[in-house]
Amino acid sequence: MLQRHDHEEGVTLSVRIPGKVNLFLAVRGVRDDGYHELTTVMQTVSVYDELSARLAGPPGRVHHPATRRRMLLQVKTRPGQGVPEGEANLAARAARVLGPRAGIMAPNGEMDCPTTVLDVDKTIPVAGGMAGGSADAAASLVALNRLWGCELSRDELRELAGEVGSDVPFCVVGGTALATGRGTELAQVLCRGAFHWIVATSRESLSTAAVYRMWDGRCAPTEVEPDAVLQALRAEDAEALGAALHNELEPAAFHLRPELAKAKQGLLDAGALGAVLSGSGPTLLAIAADAASAEDLAEAVRERFNRVLVTRSPAGGPEFSQR
Ligand code: C5P
Repeated sequence: MLQRHDHEEGVTLSVRIPGKVNLFLAVRGVRDDGYHELTTVMQTVSVYDELSARLAGPPGRVHHPATRRRMLLQVKTRPGQGVPEGEANLAARAARVLGPRAGIMAPNGEMDCPTTVLDVDKTIPVAGGMAGGSADAAASLVALNRLWGCELSRDELRELAGEVGSDVPFCVVGGTALATGRGTELAQVLCRGAFHWIVATSRESLSTAAVYRMWDGRCAPTEVEPDAVLQALRAEDAEALGAALHNELEPAAFHLRPELAKAKQGLLDAGALGAVLSGSGPTLLAIAADAASAEDLAEAVRERFNRVLVTRSPAGGPEFSQR
């Protein structure tokens, strides 16, 4: 699918989707396909991106099934939000994976066919270890499944999502999950109540691939199990969850960005019940006993970080929103 601007018509579907954090992440080793075998507990947090999707194009042709077989794709991003353009944009990549399932092909040079316009409004930090790009990809799958009339079930979308990226299947489902394999094999986990966090972002992003390469050079697989995290989630015990937070990508990310280790210590010194790197970083996550303590913690550390967000978890999954 090519990129192009066009005159516009058609309904707009909007999907609001939360970011995720890893409460536990253990690396079991390197797989034959080069990815790392993981055991991880993922949970959505109340930091949301909004993606809207609509059909535009030559008047009268947008809604005709025959003319929709070939489709242009346009992704609108907001200046300054740092959303990648072109092939690096995961929302667009998701559209290209779903397209063939809906009988939609790239237009092969024709320019008078309908256009699917995706518009991404980001709040989840870009390349921050919170699945920001993966959330947009999942929102794109959910929105286009309806806009294009594909009628795939959430399970079918979840299968397809693994082709777009390792975190995308979880983002399609949301909630709280134990993930294995590349991170794409999911089992829902019981979580009682809500937990209160601050999410502290860095100005400079960190490449997931670079963090895993550093892990290859410096770290070894472990057999640590997520039992303590799962128990704390079941028991609605923020203190126990704080003590159990665990991420084996920390040594690799902290080697690439030594200031992150100090920043994590700063969160603990400021009274967090626990702190951990989110995914492959550089976002750091700190847990507080309740919403008011999270606000206090955010106030105490705001100076140290680019942006500090007060959030709660779990935050559900993708939802259609009214416009
Ligand atoms: O799957 P995704 O495109 O999100 O992964 C980005 C990069 O992170 C991969 O290219 C790979 O280097 C690394 N990765 C990994 N093992 C995983 C997930 C990601 O090595 N389980």
